[in-house]
Parts: sequence; C-alpha cells; structure tokens
Amino acid sequence: MHGIKTDILVIGSGIAGLFFSLKASNFAKVIIITKKERAESNTNYAQGGIAAVLAPTDSFESHIEDTLRAGNGLCDREVVEAVVRNGPARVKELVELYNVEFTRKQNGSFDLGMEGGHSHRRILHAKDLTGREVESSLLSAIANAKVPIYENYIAVNLVTSNGKVIGAYVLDVNNNRVIQFFAKIIVLATGGAGKIYLYTSNPDIATGDGIAMAYRAGATIMNMEFFQFHPTCLYHPYAKSFLISEALRGEGAILVDKNGTRFMEKYHEDMELAPRDIIARAIDNELKRSGDECVYLDITHRGADFIKKRFPGIYKKCLEFNIDITRSKIPVVPAAHYCCGGVKAKIDGTTDVEHLIAIGETSCTGLHGANRLASNSLLEALVCAHEAAKKCRKLLQEGIKLQDFKPWETGDAVDSDEAVVITQNWDEIRRFMWNYVGIVRTNKRLKRAKKRIINLKEEINEYYWNFIITADLIELRNIATVAELTIDSALQRKESRGIHYNLDYPNKLPEAKNTELRIRK
Ligand code: FAD
Ligand code: SIN
Repeated sequence: MHGIKTDILVIGSGIAGLFFSLKASNFAKVIIITKKERAESNTNYAQGGIAAVLAPTDSFESHIEDTLRAGNGLCDREVVEAVVRNGPARVKELVELYNVEFTRKQNGSFDLGMEGGHSHRRILHAKDLTGREVESSLLSAIANAKVPIYENYIAVNLVTSNGKVIGAYVLDVNNNRVIQFFAKIIVLATGGAGKIYLYTSNPDIATGDGIAMAYRAGATIMNMEFFQFHPTCLYHPYAKSFLISEALRGEGAILVDKNGTRFMEKYHEDMELAPRDIIARAIDNELKRSGDECVYLDITHRGADFIKKRFPGIYKKCLEFNIDITRSKIPVVPAAHYCCGGVKAKIDGTTDVEHLIAIGETSCTGLHGANRLASNSLLEALVCAHEAAKKCRKLLQEGIKLQDFKPWETGDAVDSDEAVVITQNWDEIRRFMWNYVGIVRTNKRLKRAKKRIINLKEEINEYYWNFIITADLIELRNIATVAELTIDSALQRKESRGIHYNLDYPNKLPEAKNTELRIRK
C-alpha cells in the first residue's frame, strides 16, 4: 500500500469534522483533510448561533414542535426529538471541554437570541460572530489533541469495494499529485453546496463535493430540491456572500421597500419573524412586482450602542461599504444559504455505503424536512458528530481491515490548454440554477435547466478525462453533479412544500414523501 493509512479519514474541518475528530481521536487514529486553510468553512461564517433548550421558560416539546412546523410534514420525528433533546449536553461540551465563549448577560446566564420560526429565545451566540468563535475554539482543541490536519488536500473520489468504502483519492493541491488514503472508515463532513447558485451566502468551499462523491460511490442522496434561501444578504456590488443575520430581525429589525413601506404584513402574521421560505418568497415577489434591485432592513430604532455591541461584525462589514447600520437602512436580497438535502444518513451518520459516514450539512438525516429552522444546523452537526463517533468506536471494535486499491491513473491526460472552459461552465451552471431552479420554480424552467445540465455535464466529463485534474476542475464536476441532483429532485416533486415552490403545483400533497436518488449499478 503506497499512500497514507489511517483508521478514520475525516474529510472537512468545519464544526462536524472537528467535533467528530476530537471524540474519535480518543480511540482511533484520525486524519483530517481539508481543501483550503483549516478554518475556511461554512461554520466559520455562521452568525446567528446554535439553537438549544436552555431557558427555564423553554421546553424540548416547544423546540421539537417549531422544528416540525418549519419542516412542513417531512421531518423524521425521531431524529428531531433526539437532536433537540441531546442539544444542551453537546453545547455544554463546547463550553466546558472546548472553551467556546458564548455571549452572557450581566448575571452570567447565556444571552439567548430570537430567530424566525422559534417560539422562544433559545439561540446561543457569540455576538454575531458565533461561527468564528466555535471554529477557532475547536481548532485549538484539535491542535492540543494533536490530530493531524492536511490543508490544501482536496478529496477527488471515494474508493469502494463490494459496497464498502475503503479509501479515497486526494489531490495534494500544492504539489499537484493525487495521493491514496487507505482508511477503515471515511467521514464526509464536507459541508454545503451554495456555490451551485449565482448568489449565495456561502464561501467558495461550498461546492457539494461530499454529496457528489457519495453519489458516485453509490450512496442515496435525499431531498435535494430543498435548498434554503436566506432572505437577507447584503446587496452591494463589492460585497461577496455577506449575510445579514436573522438575529437582527429577532431584535426588531423591519423589512421595508425603497419608499420605507413595511411589506411583510401582506404575507404573514409573524411579519419579519415568519419562517425563512415565506420571507424569501415575499421579498422575491416584491422585487419582481416593483422591478427594484433590493429591499431594505432597518434596525436604526434600536440605537447605536445596542447595535454596535450586539452586531459588531455586521456593523463593521457594512461600514466598509459606507453603510452605517446605526443610521441607515441595509440593502438586502435573498441568496442560496443552506442545503437541506444531502447524503441520506441516520443520526449516527451511517449511510447505505458501508463504513461511509456523513455528518453536518452534507448529510440529510430527516431533521430539517422541507425547510430548516434557523440555527438548527450547527446543533445537528454537534449531535450527529457525537453519535457518529460512538458508532465508529463500535465498528472498529468489530474489526475492519485496511484494503489495497490501485494508484490514481493519469492515462493520456495532459495539462489543460483552455482553463476558460472551467470558468465558462461554472458561470453558466450557477446562473441557470439561479434563474430556473431558484426561489420560485415552474416545470418549464426546471426542464430547461435539465437540458442545459445534460449538455454541460457531457462537456465537463470529456474535459475531466482529457486533462490533468486541478481543484477547480474537481469542484466544477461536483457542482454539475449536485446541480443535476437538485434539478432531478425538483422535477420529481409534484407539489409545493416548504422551500420547494413550484407554480405548476401550488398545493401540498396529502402525503409527505422524501425524494431519493441513487446511481443504478
Ligand atoms: P462546513 O463548516 O462547511 O465545513 C466543510 C469542510 O469541508 C470545510 O473545511 C471544507 O474546506 C471541507 N471540504 C469540502 N469539500 C472538500 C473536499 N473535496 N476535500 C477536502 N475538504 C473538503 N447555521 C446555524 O445553525 N446557525 C447559524 O447562525 C448559521 N449561520 C450561517 C451563516 C452563514 C454565512 C452560512 C454560510 C451558514 C450559516 N449556518 C448557520 C449554516 C452552518 O454554518 C452550516 O450548516 C454548518 O457550519 C456546516 O458545518 P459542516 O461542518 O457540515 O460544514
Ligand atoms: C443567520 O444568522 O441568519 C443564519 C442562521 C442560520 O442559518 O441558521
């Protein structure tokens, strides 16, 4: 075996991968690979916080009901119960074992935030920089635990034998070579796929690699039509992917049009705290009706002192674009934010490929159903990573042997002569996904998208086999796969439910069913 051998290979260094690794490194040899610098992840940009039942006036039942209501009949109740009930214990570990500092009130209790769809204040946050606090604390703990992290290593493909995963091909980006990783268990913690859309709150790493790799390896991919659009991303020509947290609305910010008229009362009794899908569709509708480019979020009435203390990250970022949020309204538009679908997995991360575990945003456990409740994803990542570590301990105790497989073959591939093919295809996919598979869908638009993705995939595949692979090419191939899975799932769903809204089927069917896609082998 010429390559790197380990008990568990963890792909991804966001909250799911790091929390899992901290636990699994107590009983196994763990290696983490990550495709850019270690902190670069969706986790690092999380603002609002982590939902958990901690207030004496709150209850598990209430959090469970809020999650089920958001999920619109499609959540797996057992998973919802387990995630909600285990939440406080996992959060306690973040604080006590890994030194995460959440914002507290003067009396020392947690300052719990409010977000749309929640009936209680239950969001733990570190001001509006929760993700950065969690990511940096977990990375410090990983360094103390001496778990190796290979940066700029991008997984290309999983290797399977008789329905079991046995390793992965990984591109060492700095040295331009594909390395074999032999592992008894592989954990996909590769995050989301916002980059399949032109406008997204997600950083560049979110190209759905885990979903695409798992699909190619024979795993079932579930509910990909449910891509959540966050209603409020900063609208500014130079502001790439910057989110304006829902927590602003939780603290009283209102949505207005360019004339200062509040419009949410036309759409939902909860106004700005209605579920995300309703607000995103309301804004989409307002923009289509008025022809305006954005709407505005106004929190000025809360006063400068409160705003600067509670939202220092957003205040500072907006100021860089000459928007003083203590005095001016913030221009916002919806953008692709969270992939509710993913690799079908149980709460312990097990998938239908043996020894392949999927946790965090890349998985689809049934927690979110047809729409994710705000701040439930960091929670899901923690609970599932913990359960997955317990499962892996058992699997290793049962005995798994490393297996050999052949080295990566370059064949006749040569260095790319036309890198422009990559940028052209990348742009094209993201644009038609935005226009045809966006917030409001129709059969005609979905079919147009399907035609285009078939053509593009053919071109990308040809390119993939003829030229030496690069990180850009790997990601392009993956976004094409994930885009196609999203289109196919959307075409299969003959109803509107949660965040999937199709004008040709405006109603909900009586029975809620998951959409499952799998390669026929
Ligand atoms: P990530 O944190 O995205 O980590 C994925 C990791 O996998 C990265 O390290 C990446 O480099 C690596 N990777 C990917 N592909 C490969 C590959 N091929 N090879 C090697 N490495 C790879 N959720 C909440 O609950 N509360 C919030 O307040 C909140 N705010 C958010 C704000 C923003 C701006 C965004 C974008 C998301 C927010 N979310 C929030 C969602 C939440 O942040 C994510 O769902 C969660 O962080 C996902 O964690 P993860 O560990 O699954 O993936
Ligand atoms: C936000 O801060 O608005 C994001 C919360 C989330 O995505 O859960």
